[in-house]
Amino acid sequence: MPSTVIQWFPGHMAKTRRLIAQRLPLVDIVIEVLDARIPISSKNPEILSLCGKKPILTIFNKSSLADKEVNKQWIAFYKAQGQHPLFVDCKTGTNIQHIEGEIRSILAEKIKKNEEKGMAGRRLKAMVVGIPNVGKSTLINKLSGAAKAKAEDRPGVTLREQWVSAMKGIDLLDMPGVLWPKFEDQQVGQCLAATGAIKDDILDLEQVSSSLCEQLRELAPNKFCARYKLNIDQIEGLSGREICALIGKKRGMLLPGGAIDTDRANRMILDEFREAKIGQISLETPAMTKKQREVTDV
Ligand code: G4P
Repeated sequence: MPSTVIQWFPGHMAKTRRLIAQRLPLVDIVIEVLDARIPISSKNPEILSLCGKKPILTIFNKSSLADKEVNKQWIAFYKAQGQHPLFVDCKTGTNIQHIEGEIRSILAEKIKKNEEKGMAGRRLKAMVVGIPNVGKSTLINKLSGAAKAKAEDRPGVTLREQWVSAMKGIDLLDMPGVLWPKFEDQQVGQCLAATGAIKDDILDLEQVSSSLCEQLRELAPNKFCARYKLNIDQIEGLSGREICALIGKKRGMLLPGGAIDTDRANRMILDEFREAKIGQISLETPAMTKKQREVTDV
C-alpha cells in the first residue's frame, strides 16, 4: 500500500453537515449516491446518524465501470442484510428506470397517508448526497432530463440549493456541499484517489498509480496483464513503481535520452483504469468488509 500518506481536505464539511441537518425536514427521503467500484470507500458513515429516521435510498452508480460479478456479490451481500441495493449507471442508463419505483416503495406509507388526507398530488421531495465525483449531478440531470449547472462545491462559494423537478411528482434537492468519508485508513484514500474522487492536483500521481498497479495485480490479474501485454510471473515480485515503469517501456513512453517517461505512464494507467479500458474492475468486494470487521474486532 502507499508509502506516502494521501492528504485530504475536508473543506467545508462542517457547513455541509449543517446544511443537511437544516434541509432534512424539507425532504421525504435521502438518496445516497455511492460509486459501485468502491462501495466501502465512497460511503460516508455519518450519513446514517445525520439522517436520523429519514428513509435512505442507496444508489450504487457507475456500475458499468465495475466488475459485473462483484456487483452481483454486493447485491447478495446487501440483500442478506435486508436492504434493497440499486446498481445503476447514468452513462448507459442501466436501472435508472427503477429509481422512481424504489422511492415510491420506500415511501409507500407516506404516500398512503397523503392520499387519506386528500393530498394525493403532494410532490415528494428527495435530497441527493454523496462524495464528489460519484455522479450526483449526472444522476439528477438524467432523472430530470435536463442539462443544468452543476451544484457548486468549491470552498468559499455561497452554497445555493437547487430544486429540480425530476420524476413524475418527485423533486430532487441537489446538495452543493462536499461530503467526505472519514479516512484515517490509507486504503480508503487510495480507492478515492484511483477512482478520481480526490482531485489529481493534490495527489502524488506516481504513488496512486503504483498502488493501483498493485491492486490490479491482485484483484484483476488477467484483465491487467491482457491490457498491458504483461505476464503474471513477470510482475509477481515487482513493486508498483516497477510495474508502472515496465508498462511505460512497453508502450514506448521514453524521454529524450531514453529514460522511461514514468509521469506519462502513471497518468495513462490512471486514465485507462477510470475509463474502464483495463476492463470492468471493482476495487472493493464484500469479502473486504469481512476482513475489515475482523481487523476491528481483534
Ligand atoms: P458529482 O456531481 O457527484 O461530483 O459527479 P458528476 O455528476 O459531476 O460526475 C463525475 C464524473 O463521472 C463525470 O465525468 C460524469 O460524466 C461521470 N459519471 C457520472 N455518472 C456516471 C456513470 O454512471 N457511469 C460513468 N461511466 N460515468 C459517470 P467527467 O469526466 O468529470 O465529465 P464528463 O465526462 O461528463 O465530461
